[in-house]
Amino acid sequence: MGMLPGFLAKKPYIPEYDLAGIIVDANGTSLKEGDQVYGWIPATVPVKPASGTLAQYASVAADDLVPLPANITPVQASGITVVALTAYQVLFDVGGLQPKQSVFINGGSTAVGSFAIQIAKATGCKVTASASAKNEEYVRSLGADEFVDYTKAPLHKTLAANPPTPKFDVIFEAAGLMDTSLYTHSEVYLAPGGKFISVGPQPKGFDVVGILKIAWKIFLQPRFLGGTKRSWKVHQVHPKRADLEQIAKYVAEGKVKPLVDSVYAFEDALKAYERLLTGRATGKVVIKVDPGVVE
Ligand SMILES: NC(=O)c1ccc[n+]([C@@H]2O[C@H](COP(=O)([O-])OP(=O)(O)OC[C@H]3O[C@@H](n4cnc5c(N)ncnc54)[C@H](OP(=O)(O)O)[C@@H]3O)[C@@H](O)[C@H]2O)c1
Repeated sequence: MGMLPGFLAKKPYIPEYDLAGIIVDANGTSLKEGDQVYGWIPATVPVKPASGTLAQYASVAADDLVPLPANITPVQASGITVVALTAYQVLFDVGGLQPKQSVFINGGSTAVGSFAIQIAKATGCKVTASASAKNEEYVRSLGADEFVDYTKAPLHKTLAANPPTPKFDVIFEAAGLMDTSLYTHSEVYLAPGGKFISVGPQPKGFDVVGILKIAWKIFLQPRFLGGTKRSWKVHQVHPKRADLEQIAKYVAEGKVKPLVDSVYAFEDALKAYERLLTGRATGKVVIKVDPGVVE
C-alpha cells in the first residue's frame, strides 16, 4: 500500500488478497452455496476497482479456493494462502529443495518464514532459521533445528564463522532485506549450485540509491571484480492449484499450523495495519469482516 501512489488505484479500491469465507454464489463451478472455503485473489488482481478481499463479498476464481479443513477456524485459515504459497514455491518450485537437504531461512518469525520452516520440516528437510532472541522459542516451536540471532552480529559474519557441514542447499531470504551481505558472502555457507532466493528487497520509501546498490551487487558486478559465485533469484507468488492443494493437505494433516498474531474488528482495520507496520508481528494479522465468525 505504501509503494504505489494512490492515484494509480481505481476507486473504490478494496485492498488485500487472503480470505476465508462462505460461498454465496458458486456460479456453475464445482463449489456449492454454503461451502466454507479459504484462499486468495492472486496478488496482481486488486489494482482493479472493487476486487480485494477486505470486504463483505469478494469475487474469487474457484481454482484459488480450497475447502476449510475441520481442524482450523475461518480466522486461522484466512491468512494462510499468500505466505504459505510464497514459502512453498520458493522452497520447491524455485529452490528445488529435496527431503534431507538443508535450508537457511532468514526471517524465521516473519509470516512467510514461519510457514517456510513448517513446510520444509513437513517435507523432511533440515532447517536453520534466524530471528531476534525473543523469537527463538517461537521459531524452534515451528520445527527449526538450529537458530541464529540476527541482532547479535551481522548474520553473514555469524554464518561464515561457523559454516554448516555440508553447506546449505538453499538460502531463503524471507525478511525483504535491502542489505545484500547475506548473499554476497554466501560462497562460504551456500553449496556450489545452491540457490539464494529472496521475497524481494523492500525499500522503505523511494530508495533509488539502495535499489542501484542491489542491482550492482546482484546483477551487474562481474565475478572477476568480486561478484558472488552463487545464483540470486527473487520470487513473486503466483497462482498454482497443485501448490495450494499440497499446502491444504499439510494443514488438514496438522503438519503445518496456521499462525495468527492478532485479530481486529472491521471498524479497527487501520489498527490492524498499524500492527503490521511495526514489523514485529509473529503470524498473520487478521481482520474479521463478520463479527460473528469463529476465532
Ligand atoms: N514475493 C512475494 O510474493 C511475497 C509474498 C508475501 C510477502 N512478501 C514479502 O515477504 C516479507 C515478509 O512478509 P511477512 O508478511 O511474512 O512479514 P511479517 O510477518 O510482517 O514480519 C514480521 C517479522 O519480521 C521479523 N524481522 C523484522 N526485521 C527482520 C530482520 N532484519 N531480519 C529477520 N527478521 C526480521 C520480526 O521478527 P523479530 O522481531 O525477531 O525481528 C517479525 O517477527 C515482506 O518483505 C513482504 O513484502 C513477498
